[in-house]
Amino acid sequence: MVDIILGLQWGDEGKGKIVDLMSGNYSIVARFQGGPNAGHTIIIGDKKFILRQVPSGITRPETLNVIGNGVVLDPLVLQKEINSLQDAGIEVTSRLLVSTKTNLITPYHALLDSLRENEQGEKKIGSTLKGIGPAYQDKIGRFGIRAGDCTHKGFDTAYKNLKDRFSSILAFYGHDGNVDDSEWLQSIELLRKMKITETEEFLNEAIKDNKKILAEGAQGTLLDIDFGTYPYVTSSNTISASACTGLGIAPKHIKKVYGVFKAYCTRVGGGPFPTELLDSTGQFIRDRGFEYGSVTKRPRRCGWMDLPALKYSIMLNGVDELIMMKIDVLNELENISVCTKYLNQNDEEISFSAVCGTEGVHPEYKEMKGWGGGLAEAKNYDDLPVEAKDYIVFMQKECDTRISVVSTGPERNETLFLA
Ligand code: GDP
Ligand code: IMO
Ligand code: MG
Repeated sequence: MVDIILGLQWGDEGKGKIVDLMSGNYSIVARFQGGPNAGHTIIIGDKKFILRQVPSGITRPETLNVIGNGVVLDPLVLQKEINSLQDAGIEVTSRLLVSTKTNLITPYHALLDSLRENEQGEKKIGSTLKGIGPAYQDKIGRFGIRAGDCTHKGFDTAYKNLKDRFSSILAFYGHDGNVDDSEWLQSIELLRKMKITETEEFLNEAIKDNKKILAEGAQGTLLDIDFGTYPYVTSSNTISASACTGLGIAPKHIKKVYGVFKAYCTRVGGGPFPTELLDSTGQFIRDRGFEYGSVTKRPRRCGWMDLPALKYSIMLNGVDELIMMKIDVLNELENISVCTKYLNQNDEEISFSAVCGTEGVHPEYKEMKGWGGGLAEAKNYDDLPVEAKDYIVFMQKECDTRISVVSTGPERNETLFLA
């Protein structure tokens, strides 16, 4: 049986906290897409971990973790991540399996990411520059090098071919082709010592043995390569269907889809953001929510909750239960707005998909009363201020989907489970 936890907005919804919290109920946690563009934060007491490629189940000694075939993996980033986890006393290598079919990110991919973004000027995507787009491009183009290739004699030839191919691509961008890949090549040695295996076989065996698997999404639905705000998206499918292709699991094994969303919206990088607040309220949310990228430290753009976008995400993923994060960030706001629909220039309602490419669109807001704090003391839903409950009930009704968890702070114990 497989459950999925994924983001419903533009990433950074708080997936790391929730996966860590819930992973105690699962034998295996598996990442199915994305790569080191992700930064999943886990806070346990005075320790803070930002996980890029290692699944967020690693904090539980009894949980096995899988990097699936749908992920693009940078072995050097992985090596640094493993070292810092092991320094903090968390054993990783014996509990981490990597798919033979996971495509590798090389320094050439990361360099190409930067060269392309520089060329885009104002139109740049705001990529994390970790080489995600170029690595997925090589995968689809059937040029990629996969983790399984590291253990074969042909690796050196495959890597030489990749370098030769890149020399003409880099020349196109006026780059001399000199790339220091010595550290990266050393990290391949570590990868060779890891458990590189047919993880699709391993996961399907686990399903047969009635083990519970949690599939952990990266990025968010509105960054999906097909359904997100294209071209301002990442290069993988981030929706629930991707857990099947990114792990080799049949749809019939998926049981529950948990959709994680913030009580407001953020986005890092370029692209449409209809409810963005460019005023002092946006800055207030950024300050209170500490909305700065966990990977790039860039300030995140902040705005009001966007219901048309959220409903679209719920539809695409078939969300069974909603998890609302960071409601505490809205403490102290006198009024809280929620976008309920978009209207075009003729005051006709239009969909989220249509809004992103249409001029003169304006969001229509419902204004709700704030609650002025009082969340820190709440041990369960009934303890919440009435205005906070109104906000949660309103969202649940609008989305026609149960909100089962509300997060009131970054720590594990700042979490309310709703009956
Ligand atoms: P992810 O990429 O979806 O895992 O999210 P990130 O880790 O990039 O960003 C979420 C940030 O919000 C992290 O710094 C978390 O520690 C923090 N966080 C998670 N849940 C809450 C919450 O309920 N309240 C507050 N204030 N912070 C939270
Ligand atoms: P987690 O898993 C937020 C954004 C980048 C950029 C666009 C493309 O932590 O939620 P890419 O590096 O993929 O070429 O960047 O996607 N982006 C994210 N934004 N959270 C993430 O991951 C993101 N991963 C990529 O900022 O706009
Ligand atoms: Mg993040």
